[in-house]
Amino acid sequence: MNRLTWYGHATLGLETDAHKLVIDPFFDENPAASTTADQIEAEFILISHGHGDHIGDTFSIAKRTGALVISNHEIATWLQKQGLEKVHGQHLGGGFQHPFGYLKLTLALHGSQLPDGSDGGNPCGFLLTTNNGKKIYLAQDTGLFGDMRLIGEEGLEVAVIPIGDNYTMGPDDALRAVKMLQPKTVVPIHYNTFDLLKQDANAWATRVESETDSKVAVLKPGEQLNF
Ligand code: NI
Ligand code: MN
Repeated sequence: MNRLTWYGHATLGLETDAHKLVIDPFFDENPAASTTADQIEAEFILISHGHGDHIGDTFSIAKRTGALVISNHEIATWLQKQGLEKVHGQHLGGGFQHPFGYLKLTLALHGSQLPDGSDGGNPCGFLLTTNNGKKIYLAQDTGLFGDMRLIGEEGLEVAVIPIGDNYTMGPDDALRAVKMLQPKTVVPIHYNTFDLLKQDANAWATRVESETDSKVAVLKPGEQLNF
């Protein structure tokens, strides 16, 4: 069994095959976070892009836990220059068999500037094939793009997509994304963190479930989905 936790905003936990991952670990400055960075256990940290609400508490968690940080080449190199030794750089379209599964970096339409103004390369999403053969797509921050159809062709158990609007897809485009991704279950993220990202996830879920075959899991920060 695999277990996904939404901690609020775009911060996720994933337990798979006895491995613990945290994705875009934004806890201590995150007004929606259900816990604090010092409570997080992780062997692997995945970073989708350079923005502060995604780099978040990477340093403190990686230093305390010794987790390997996985991101694109530019962010991995930047983290190394800041003193993190255990990093693994990949890039869009490239996959690698990690102990927790086969992880591929996917396209994301967004920015990726790092907190000190450095270039964070291209932003990405993640497509993970777990060791028990389930596929989960973590879109993280992105606008709608037609190649989501290609990701959907992989046969997704779960898709995690933003609905907050302003910086990412809003509810209308997120509904179109579900139609292309066709996951068994979809989890909305990147909303209700701040007033700017206010959305009614339950209303969105009703629309998705009436117009697609996907089920929507509307989680509260700290809640989990088993798949
Ligand atoms: Ni961002
Ligand atoms: Mn963001």
